[in-house]
Amino acid sequence: MLHDKIKQYSEEIAAFSPSSSADVENFRLKFLVSKGIVKTLFEEFKEVSTEEKRVLGKVLNEFKQLAEAKFKDAQEQFASAKVDLKNEDDLTLPGQGFSLGSRHPLSLVRKEIVEIFKKLGFIVSEGPEIEDDWHNFSALNFPPEHPARDMQDTFFIKKQDGNDMALRTHTSSVQVRLMEAGQPPFRAIMPGRVYRNEAISARAHCFFHQVEGLYIDENVSFADLKQTLYHFVKELYGDDTKVRFRPSYFPFTEPSAEMDISCTICKGAGCQLCKGSGWVEILGCGMVDPNVLDNCNIDSKKYSGFAFGMGIERVTNLKYEIKDLRLFSENDVNFLAQFESEII
Ligand code: DAH
Repeated sequence: MLHDKIKQYSEEIAAFSPSSSADVENFRLKFLVSKGIVKTLFEEFKEVSTEEKRVLGKVLNEFKQLAEAKFKDAQEQFASAKVDLKNEDDLTLPGQGFSLGSRHPLSLVRKEIVEIFKKLGFIVSEGPEIEDDWHNFSALNFPPEHPARDMQDTFFIKKQDGNDMALRTHTSSVQVRLMEAGQPPFRAIMPGRVYRNEAISARAHCFFHQVEGLYIDENVSFADLKQTLYHFVKELYGDDTKVRFRPSYFPFTEPSAEMDISCTICKGAGCQLCKGSGWVEILGCGMVDPNVLDNCNIDSKKYSGFAFGMGIERVTNLKYEIKDLRLFSENDVNFLAQFESEII
């Protein structure tokens, strides 16, 4: 019995290879303290027969020496890793800095956009990136075969059951999901990633990010839309930013508009970014088409509302003058480290 134990512990000690001074201390506590294994085995030794004592005495002593030698070695190994302070070491020098991560510029700008709308009572709502035709197109008043579907080059995915799904081409799909799930009032913004089948270049990418906005209640008018977006632009780009609306077309809004702001880079004087016009487009918007409300089981006679959608990359470019869209997805630390760092 005792012989077996000694053998087993000897193997454990031989295999012991500490990776920290805590391991060394644990070794000491296990084997070498007064209630440790070495002492316990010596206690057990007292109980064995005289013949056994003759054999085991030597074995046990060797075991004790093995444990002590291993401990000493281990202790030295970690003692030498300690900082060897010399007289000339200046303890008042500042420590070595380490860099915190920084938020991705798109996350920063999304956060800013969300904060502005939250203060106006908008909630944040999200939806799936793989969508069905209904939520991405049909419910939004894109009839089948309607040329407006070609406005957005879509990636399709075939499901096992043979049905097509799409990678959502816009976050307008989340409007539909939100409205289907309840009844007005709705006041929400919907940030998320969207996909389009485009060749990747400095000015286009096959995925990017949008924020959709939706406000539905009784008596919501185009004036509410304008006032909300004016407020948003001034909060984001400053009070002196000018805003203008141009008539446009989207299947899901009627009337529809695109909103331009005075160029944030040249302040309207004309530069490369605004192609000399002094204005840059920032978002699409309009009054939600009654067909869309009806498709989502909302009474379009009782309720009205507005929607808008903007690209986060675009909003970010207008803030930070980023000329190549590819930078957003290349994870180049030199690029990313330029943006605000934060303890997350
Ligand atoms: N879904 C549009 C796009 O991706 C953007 C948009 C325009 C959204 C007008 C809206 C809107 O809600 O009213 O191009």
